[in-house]
Amino acid sequence: MGTPFFSEDGQTFDFGEHWNKAYQKTPLKDLGWFEEQPLPTLELIDACGLSKDACIFHAGAGATTLIGELLHQGYTNLIVNDIAAAALTALKNDLPFYKKAQVRFVVDDLTQPSALLDSKQVDCWHDRAVLHFFTEEYQQQAYFGLLKHMVKTGGYVLLSEFSLEGAAKCCGLEVFRYDVGMFQERLGPSFTLLKSFQHTYIQPSGQPRPYIYALFQRTDD
Ligand SMILES: C[S@@+](CC[C@H](N)C(=O)[O-])C[C@H]1O[C@@H](n2cnc3c(N)ncnc32)[C@H](O)[C@@H]1O
Repeated sequence: MGTPFFSEDGQTFDFGEHWNKAYQKTPLKDLGWFEEQPLPTLELIDACGLSKDACIFHAGAGATTLIGELLHQGYTNLIVNDIAAAALTALKNDLPFYKKAQVRFVVDDLTQPSALLDSKQVDCWHDRAVLHFFTEEYQQQAYFGLLKHMVKTGGYVLLSEFSLEGAAKCCGLEVFRYDVGMFQERLGPSFTLLKSFQHTYIQPSGQPRPYIYALFQRTDD
């Protein structure tokens, strides 16, 4: 899966292929975004006070350890998305077989969604480190359009992306860095900021990567 991206000079770049290769050539624990324990995210999901059967959507989830953690905590209704089928296969293979029915895996491109447009509405949208790869206006518009299509009124949005002090590139790609005001501007007044903090993630290689974490709630339609 992978939709070619056409730049202004007519060059194509297949993001699906790029990410599939990243997961195929590097052991999961050596990836520059691997977290042994996704503690800042767990803290924010906990702050939402969701019921265990609430539907939590993970945008660009890759093979994150978060899914195993949430299943372990008793969450039963997870949707896990990525553009890279290789990432979702690795994740699926790592989960206990009796928990797999509690997860729906959706290979789709958040910037040109198809299957996700038919998804049910969700109680929580979670993204760690995918939005910042969308450097083009059309990609950001598609991402936030999908988010607003999928998140219920009263639902939560948890975004964690490279902060303005963060690195300019990741996995060989340029990134678009954020602060809380930029999230709010994109989400609009229907989303209320509940909490935000800076967090410096340390890569497996030892390099620091400053992130901004923010939790919003959709307060009207
Ligand atoms: C830096 S990794 C973060 C993975 C995961 N969220 C984590 O924290 O471990 C970025 C992820 O976004 C996925 N991705 C990149 N572009 C995407 C797109 N257009 N649609 C869906 N997923 C995408 C990649 O395949 C990769 O798994």
